[in-house]
Amino acid sequence: MASGNGSNFEAVVLACRNGQLAAEVALLVVNNPGCGAAGRAGRLGIPCQLHDHRSFSGRGALDQALIASFRAARVELVVMAGWMRIVTPTLIAAFPERLVNIHPSLLPSFRGLDGVGQALAAGVRLAGCTAHLVSEEVDAGRILAQAAVPVLEGDDHAGLSARIQVQEHRILPLAVELAARRLGLL
Ligand code: GRF
Repeated sequence: MASGNGSNFEAVVLACRNGQLAAEVALLVVNNPGCGAAGRAGRLGIPCQLHDHRSFSGRGALDQALIASFRAARVELVVMAGWMRIVTPTLIAAFPERLVNIHPSLLPSFRGLDGVGQALAAGVRLAGCTAHLVSEEVDAGRILAQAAVPVLEGDDHAGLSARIQVQEHRILPLAVELAARRLGLL
């Protein structure tokens, strides 16, 4: 599941292709037409479906469509790789312990929107990223993997985000593997 640039989506695909992760990415779903993630899927040869949230009556209807797509593709584990919509309990219940999210902060600090901006505003010297299972409370599910990134003197949002993303690309495939092992899928 991706909404934007899709660099985390690509990191998971590459981890599968280089043998680091014994899995296959069956499907990408996006909610924004023409987003970077959709372009990456085309380049990587991964099937991509658009579920534009603007054409659904609400979050529940969108999540029902996602569930139908995942079931049709025989998906065993779902990764929210920069999915910028809040998901409903319906999706979480359809994939219990099987829904992984990546968030750009060291949770439980700086949940919700703009974790990087929140870290800069708070003046912390260590920022980072967290891959976790999704629960009904936003950014509060079981933590699978984290990486810390120092905040450098004079860091701006773009610079810190870029360094955090390098770590996201490293820990997200690792977290997918951990989640799959917990479920006995690997
Ligand atoms: C990542 O920073 C992730 O932490 C957040 O959304 C961003 C997605 O980036 N949830 P990308 O689309 O994978 O490049």
